Order: sequence, then structure tokens, then C-alpha cells
Amino acid sequence: MSYLLVLLILLIPSPVSYTSEKGECDAARVRVVEKVGKKAFLKRTAFLADFAREEAYALTVRPGRILIEAATPTGAFRARKSLEQMRLEGDRIPCCTIFDYPRFRHRGLLIDESRSFKGLDFLKKQVDAMALLKLNRLHLHLTDAAGWRLRIEAYPALTDKAAWRIGERYIDWQNAGYPFATATTTGAYGGFYTREQMKELVAYAAERHVEIIPEIEMPGHSMEVNRTYPEMACETSDGKALPFSWDLCPGRDETFTFLETVLSEVMEIFPSRYIHIGGDEAVMKDWPRCVHCKARMDAEGYTDVKQLQGYLVRRIEAFLRSKGRTMLGWDEILETGIPEGAVVMSWRGTSGGKKAAAAGHDVIMCPTAYCYLDYYQDLIRKEPKAVGPLNSLHRVWSFEPAEGFSDLDAGHILGLQGNLWCEWVPTVSHAEYMLYPRAFAIAETGWSPRGNDTFEGFRPRAVSLCKAFRSLGYNTFDLSTESERAQSRCYEVGRQGYQVIYQEKGGVTLSYYHATPARVMIFDGWAFLDRNGNEALDLFEDWRKQPGERSDDYYRLTGERIPPEKFASGEFDNPANAKPL
Ligand code: ACM
Ligand code: ZN
Repeated sequence: MSYLLVLLILLIPSPVSYTSEKGECDAARVRVVEKVGKKAFLKRTAFLADFAREEAYALTVRPGRILIEAATPTGAFRARKSLEQMRLEGDRIPCCTIFDYPRFRHRGLLIDESRSFKGLDFLKKQVDAMALLKLNRLHLHLTDAAGWRLRIEAYPALTDKAAWRIGERYIDWQNAGYPFATATTTGAYGGFYTREQMKELVAYAAERHVEIIPEIEMPGHSMEVNRTYPEMACETSDGKALPFSWDLCPGRDETFTFLETVLSEVMEIFPSRYIHIGGDEAVMKDWPRCVHCKARMDAEGYTDVKQLQGYLVRRIEAFLRSKGRTMLGWDEILETGIPEGAVVMSWRGTSGGKKAAAAGHDVIMCPTAYCYLDYYQDLIRKEPKAVGPLNSLHRVWSFEPAEGFSDLDAGHILGLQGNLWCEWVPTVSHAEYMLYPRAFAIAETGWSPRGNDTFEGFRPRAVSLCKAFRSLGYNTFDLSTESERAQSRCYEVGRQGYQVIYQEKGGVTLSYYHATPARVMIFDGWAFLDRNGNEALDLFEDWRKQPGERSDDYYRLTGERIPPEKFASGEFDNPANAKPL
């Protein structure tokens, strides 16, 4: 699709095929005719995979007529959303013919409700935005140490005791030693969703062809459960319960009764095929000293506590499968044998996704370095505190989910997802600020054919849609303030275990080395180590603006200088090897 046409129609995601026609249509005066499930359209879309056909549509806009054709009501809904986007700047729209269908079946967002509780109105508003963007899966992180957010009838104490805390900001709560509270405690922060509220959300989302996927985290990130029910936590040989344990006790049978009861209630509320069980970042610190964990290890013949995580995940996967659901889990679930039937969310880079796909499992790609929307979207100095390094709009847009997969394994990629964790996102307006416009890039990658447009074509559409989103009441990031650094094109070469990014702009060549947990920026023969965040990029921006006025300030913030000898040693790649994205 040409740049000019994209500018004219301003659609995100961009359609598979768009043909400009003569004239314009006053959409406010013209009746929209819908033809759903008709033979001609079914024939036209017979070449598509089932999931793509289900969402496919044709939209014909003429001066006196608007026609929507689709195989299913979902496809017709997607067409109406295209039309709605086209009308955001006025009812007079250019005549055109669109034929469109999605590239991936999973185009998701994760919203973390545990670290900050945002409420039903907020979630419905984001479902509206998702529908407009043709995003179709909202993954809710409902439980974590910082708060249990779903009323469970069999275990009401979870929300009575662990849905409220002292410390609106996660960091304040953490620094205060994780104090929980009840709804009536003075200064308590929190909240939870009732069953009825979540059913209302599920129905609201379903009407907008968005599915809600609940996540009940286990066995890690579960201190709130141990605090509520210390009798279920790990226990030392002298009978001491460990309610501050980060992980559930996989040794106790009560843990499984608890999890299966909770998941049964969850399945009553959420009809989604997928149920997310977390599985990430169990610290396993207390398992070696727990009598129940030890007994389980002996009974199973385990030699490593990690095997307890595999035990729990496999047992829960079998339970969910017995109920006709499919388990989703973070890529840690691969580490002790992939549970049969599990779908993997690849977040620690893309290798988990590749490994799972090679083993025949479906995967959803959301690597931190592209898809984490709690990371900075611009230079640190102008942005509210965020978690990780720079995931600018360009960076998120540049993610290619199938990169590095064989054609065969790429068939296992269900799609991608942007993840908004909320340790540093305490309010609803801040959450929207982090989501938009970067969710536009997730939508574009998830729906549009690979290579449908360049970033130079995409960005003006994002600017325009941001403006429309603001008029709809969303607090988006303001792209007009975005720094040159965040906008610039990056060139990358892959290296084992990390990436090297070469950026060329304004006559300066910068090599930018990204590893975990450190990043290194290199210029003028010096490397600047940036352990956590993009301060080095801020400094580099200063240097670009005032060349010749460099001072020690450039590396003061970043900690360490790496001498040129080390740079020369070949540890860092040569920019000449850089390949355009
Ligand atoms: C994660 O970000 N811990 C999945
Ligand atoms: Zn235990």
C-alpha cells in the first residue's frame, strides 16, 4: 500500500488491500448495507485460514452507498470499526474499496490489575480502544503479591484481606514491608472485581469481539495467598509457616485443592479457551527448607527444587485440559519439560517461543525488548519513571514476531501482545499514556501483512490517531514531543544473547549494545555502560545537540566508562556489519 493512500485513510492497522475510488461519501447520510455469510464472500475468502476468514471483510465506500461484506459477524464488526476510524476526523470520507483480514489470530494487550487496580470503567474503555484497533485479546493479570483482584466465593478472604494495601504506589508498599489492609482501613488502597463485574466485562468485550483471558498467577508472585492463608504456605521443620514466601507451596495437597477450586470459579466466569497460569519468576527460595516440599520431592524422586515447579504446572495443565481449556503460561514453564497442550508466552526474548514452537507448541510473542509497554517510550528525563530501557513507538513497531523462526515453526505463532505491567503505573491516566500509541504498533504488526508499510508511513497515521484518541478522552503520549533519538531508525545485527543496534542519523554513527542487565553505548571511541535504563541515551542526545561541550557529565550518570582498548578488542561489532531492519 502506498504512503499517500495510507495518509488519506489513516487506518491502523493498515488493511491488506485498499483501492482509492473517485469521489467522497457523506457517511452520516448513507445507509450501511451488511451482507454476512453470503456465498460470494465465502468463495472469495476460501483461500484463507479459518481464523483469518472469520475476521475478513470487504468494505465498499461509494458516494451513495456503503457496503460491508463478511463471512461472519466478527468480520462485519471489523469492517464497522474501519469505517468508524475513517470517520474520526469527519463524516465525509474518500470513496474506496477495502479487502482485509488479519495476519495473526492473537492480537493482545496485557493489563496488570494487581499492582494498580483500575476498575471496570477503565477496562471497558480499553476494550473500546482495542475494538477500534482490531485487537482481540485482553489478558488480565488479576493476581500477584500486590493484590488479589477477583472475588472467589470459596476463598473470600483473598479479597477481604489481600485486595487492599497501605501504599497506593507499588514502590511505597514495597518499601513499607508489604502491608496489607482491609477496605475500611484508613488510607487503604485497592479494590477487586466481583464475579458479576467480570461477567459484565466478558459480555461487554464479547459484543466488541474481544476475548478476556484471565491470569491467576502460580506458583511464583503469590505472596498475597500465603499472607491470607499462612496455613497453606511453606513450613519449616520447626513448624514455622512462611507467609512472606513469594511462592505457593507445591508440596502441600491443599495448594492443589485451592488452585483447582479457584480455577473452577475462574472458568465459570471466563469462557475463554485459554486460562493463563503465570508460571514466571518463582524464586523457589523457601522450597528447599519446607517439610512439605521436601516430602513431595522424596515421593517424586526429585533432586532439584525446580522440578517442583514442573510438577505443579503439569498437574494444573492436566486439570485445565480435563475441563476443556488450554493452559497459557510464561516461558519459564518450558524449563522443566513443556506440559502437554500448553501454549507459551515468550517474554524473556524470543528463544522460549522458538523452543516451544520447535517442540510443536503454539506460542504468543511478547519479548520485553519490544513488547513491554511499562518500559520508557522516550528519554528518561522527560518521562515518568518507568521500568526498563527504551521501547519507543518505532521500537515496538519494528518487532517482527516470526523473525528467526523456520517457516514450519512460524506456523505455531498465534500472535503477539503488548504487556502493561503497573509497578510504576499507579493511575488510569498514566496507564493510557503508556498504552497509546504503542498499542497501535502492536495492532499493526498483529493484523497487517508483513511489510505493508514503512515506519515513515506508519508514524503519521499514529500521530493522527493519537489526536483522535485524545478527542475520545484517552490520555495518550504526545508524539509531537517525542525526541529525535526515539524517532530515529535503528539498524540491528543479531548477536548471541543480546542485540547490537546501530543508529545512523545526523552524520553520527552510534553503536548501541543491549545486553541483560546492562546496555552499552559507544561513541567517539568510548563506551558508556548503562545498567538500567536509557540514561546513556539522554546523555548522548545532549552531546549531539552541543558537540564540543562534552564533559564528565556524559558518563557520570551511567556509572562506568569502558576504555577504547576494550572497544577495539572486537567485543563489539563493527557498524559496517549492520543490516537495515
Ligand atoms: C513477566 O514479565 N514476569 C512475565
Ligand atoms: Zn513448601
